Amino acid sequence: MAEPLRVGVLASGSGSNLQAIIDACRDGAVPARVVVAISNVPSAFALERARRCGIPAYAVDHTGYPSIDRFESAVREILEAHRVGLVCLAGFLRILSPRFVGAFAGRIVNIHPALLPAFGGKGMYGERVHRAVLASGARVSGCTVHFVTAVPDGGPIVAQATVPVEEGDTPATLAARVAGAEHRLYPDAVRLFAEGRLRLDGDRVRVGPPTGPGLVPEGR
Ligand code: GRF
Repeated sequence: MAEPLRVGVLASGSGSNLQAIIDACRDGAVPARVVVAISNVPSAFALERARRCGIPAYAVDHTGYPSIDRFESAVREILEAHRVGLVCLAGFLRILSPRFVGAFAGRIVNIHPALLPAFGGKGMYGERVHRAVLASGARVSGCTVHFVTAVPDGGPIVAQATVPVEEGDTPATLAARVAGAEHRLYPDAVRLFAEGRLRLDGDRVRVGPPTGPGLVPEGR
């Protein structure tokens, strides 16, 4: 039997999405295995979650590197050493260079806590996103898993889920509702990738029948 897809997760914070992916892989819902977690924040709870699950966890503190290039090389070396087939950004608060993204083209995804292409882009993270959604008067919000390109939050969309915006919502109550949706959506998007069901068609992602781990090669 083929080895399950090897997933590496990059996170800067609490790591609840990391946990959701680990759990879904472990309970058999997703034919993949989280083989490494990396954080640029040494105190991130995400690292602790990985360790508790027996998954190698590395702190790569960006402030300790003389350049973005050196920081990213360190992250890349770890991902490569663990033979990662898919990189999942899960609350990773560093914008990655085109060079890094290019090295993992078609093998790197992110989750964003809103319905892209709205409420995304540089500076749109964490509470700011939910604050902007509430200020807009939108009646729905949600989350988006997308392939990562050099454009922040701009890559092809893999999957989305919606949640209602309710009367009296605060950024915190909306964030909590969106987080619940994220914990279902992200593992499911990883499953689609792991089953080889995702195909890039220009700027769009098509979902087809299973073909085996990874992105379906162009032209198939
Ligand atoms: C999530 O809301 C995700 O959409 C965003 O960062 C947050 C990470 O939360 N990119 P957690 O660390 O997974 O709990």
